[in-house]
Amino acid sequence: MFHTRVCEIFGIKYPIVQSPMNYAITPALVAGVSNAGGLGTIASNMQIDIPPSTSNANAEHMRSMIREVRKLTNKPFGINIQHGRVINPEGKGLERFNPQSLAVMRVAIEERVPVAYISMAPPDSFVVETLHDAGMKVMLIGTTVRHGKRAEEAGVDAYLCAGYDAGGHSPGHGDTTLFTELPQVVDALKIPVMAGGCVGDARGLIAAFALGAEGIAMGTRFLATYECRWSQKTKQALINAHDGATVAWGKILGTGLGRTLKNRFTEMYFEMEMKGATAAELQAFIDGYKAPSGRGLDRKAGAYFDADLEWGEVYMGMVSGLIKDIKHAGDVVKDIMAEAERVVARLGAERMPARL
Ligand SMILES: Cc1cc2nc3c(=O)[nH]c(=O)nc-3n(C[C@H](O)[C@H](O)[C@H](O)COP(=O)(O)O)c2cc1C
Repeated sequence: MFHTRVCEIFGIKYPIVQSPMNYAITPALVAGVSNAGGLGTIASNMQIDIPPSTSNANAEHMRSMIREVRKLTNKPFGINIQHGRVINPEGKGLERFNPQSLAVMRVAIEERVPVAYISMAPPDSFVVETLHDAGMKVMLIGTTVRHGKRAEEAGVDAYLCAGYDAGGHSPGHGDTTLFTELPQVVDALKIPVMAGGCVGDARGLIAAFALGAEGIAMGTRFLATYECRWSQKTKQALINAHDGATVAWGKILGTGLGRTLKNRFTEMYFEMEMKGATAAELQAFIDGYKAPSGRGLDRKAGAYFDADLEWGEVYMGMVSGLIKDIKHAGDVVKDIMAEAERVVARLGAERMPARL
């Protein structure tokens, strides 16, 4: 019933993608999702002690992550490519992009990873062509109709549409919620569109399908899994989160909006913003973080591994309020697909039930 073009393109049983999440994803999580019939995705920086500027170290670490995943599954999986904007217009082809993402792209190609999940980047036909030539399928995430059209023109195989409600950083500066954005994107594109976040259970999957999606990608739901690398206390904060527990902030910083748990850090951030702090001042405040353990972790890692819930950046989506249990990653996929059948059956009842 749920076999869509997305399943055909990526060679998967169920149209469920696990979104990449730096520091949180483990090879066991990726493989768990893929073994259950979805598409697990390796994040672009999974190790907290490798500074992103050391491109070769990070790329080689990605190679080891790919090989770890391969030991755990023979099913298709993806890798996050964040090539960003062109930084070297004089360069040829891929040389136009930053060396770190270029190194990751090369490793992904050498290791024959089946799927590229491009994020935080304007669509680029040369990149898509290069990945296709290497035998990879390509999906790209964005937040607007315009972004989707450019992705289609660039030749991507599927477009992920994310809303303002999504966890982590929204690509671009999307201000529209998934429910509003998704059908508009579906109407504008011919390639398959997926809900790129803001979904946490089978009702969300069916709602996304009703709006024209051919699949879903979930980030936050996979944080509440045994395989997620976060500390137990930080996972518990997600389970305890209520419907209004998160907030999006940081547009002025130029990296898109980030959605995190509301805490003393976000309060202070907004206070500074309201008082007219510049982007540089706000960035200095963020970077001036000292993790409780004294291990020199940044604000995100402090939240995830030192469980600094007050001053850390605890990334998660609005859908957190819906997530009430920790499961195995594979069970997240299997349970949603089983429940989806029941939701459809209830929708098909003679009288539309008041509650699904
Ligand atoms: C903790 C966390 C880390 C994230 N890290 C990344 C990342 O490394 N790369 C990326 O493209 N998106 C990242 N995102 C965004 C997710 O890939 C995805 O788009 C988002 O989580 C989907 O929305 P949802 O959380 O409502 O399911 C992150 C999101 C979260 C919550």
